Amino acid sequence: MFHRSDNLYFQPRQNFNRNEDFHEELNDLFNKKFQFRYNSDWKLPELDLWFSAPPWKVRELDTQKSRLNFHKSQLNDFNIEEWSSHTRRRNPAGEVGWKIRCLVNPEFLTQAWTKFYECASNYDVIPKQAITERKMVSLHLCEAPGAFITSLNHYLKQNHQDVEWKWLANTLNPYYEGNSPSNMISDDRFMFHTLNNWDFGVDSTGNLMDWDNSQAIIRNAKSLGKVLLITADGSIDCLQKPDAQEEMTSPLHYSMSISTSQ
Ligand SMILES: C[S@@+](CC[C@H](N)C(=O)[O-])C[C@H]1O[C@@H](n2cnc3c(N)ncnc32)[C@H](O)[C@@H]1O
Repeated sequence: MFHRSDNLYFQPRQNFNRNEDFHEELNDLFNKKFQFRYNSDWKLPELDLWFSAPPWKVRELDTQKSRLNFHKSQLNDFNIEEWSSHTRRRNPAGEVGWKIRCLVNPEFLTQAWTKFYECASNYDVIPKQAITERKMVSLHLCEAPGAFITSLNHYLKQNHQDVEWKWLANTLNPYYEGNSPSNMISDDRFMFHTLNNWDFGVDSTGNLMDWDNSQAIIRNAKSLGKVLLITADGSIDCLQKPDAQEEMTSPLHYSMSISTSQ
């Protein structure tokens, strides 16, 4: 039986400011970058060959998966709210959003907002062509509630005010009653005011895994001009099947990669 008093679990939020290692730990977090070297020999197989081979398994990875899931299952008895509160307290970046809100108070700040802003500040997310031609079209797949867009807006206004920007976004339609609430983000605070920029496909579900929807969304984005930036942030709630996250999310990842490559 788990007892609150004899476990590290209920420690108060770490005060990193008083910790000498604060700056080192902080820099380590922001320097966690990996670069993949592109090899022009890498070619995707022809489309009609995809998923045609029987599934195969790597024994070592399967063993690792069982061990990992065994350890994860030790958490099963914890109360989910208490566990979330614990992981929040252990997150050294937890203060970042609060600080930005106090200093800048940007439109629709969420963790995704900071994630995108960090990417935009560190990498050439805004293509040179957009800067020289002073216009840009962006497409945002699986994007509710929309913080990548508000973050991009903030970044453009701060750094490239003269770029004329058009955007289109897609996501599971929160107003479509047939969509499962567990897969959807119902927060429409931003979407409600920008509905004309949201594309829910030909059947109004917004489901990007539907081929006709994905093709219609791509067509509509291209009709705005050359699409110079695409974000694809789709994810699915795996709470009911935490031991099969990759299996659950891979069809969505596949649809996003097909859509972004066209
Ligand atoms: C992590 S959220 C995206 C957050 C967003 N980038 C932001 O900055 O606010 C993942 C989104 O993927 C959407 N999604 C999941 N499955 C989808 C599908 N099949 N088609 C379209 N969107 C999907 C969810 O509804 C959710 O809005």
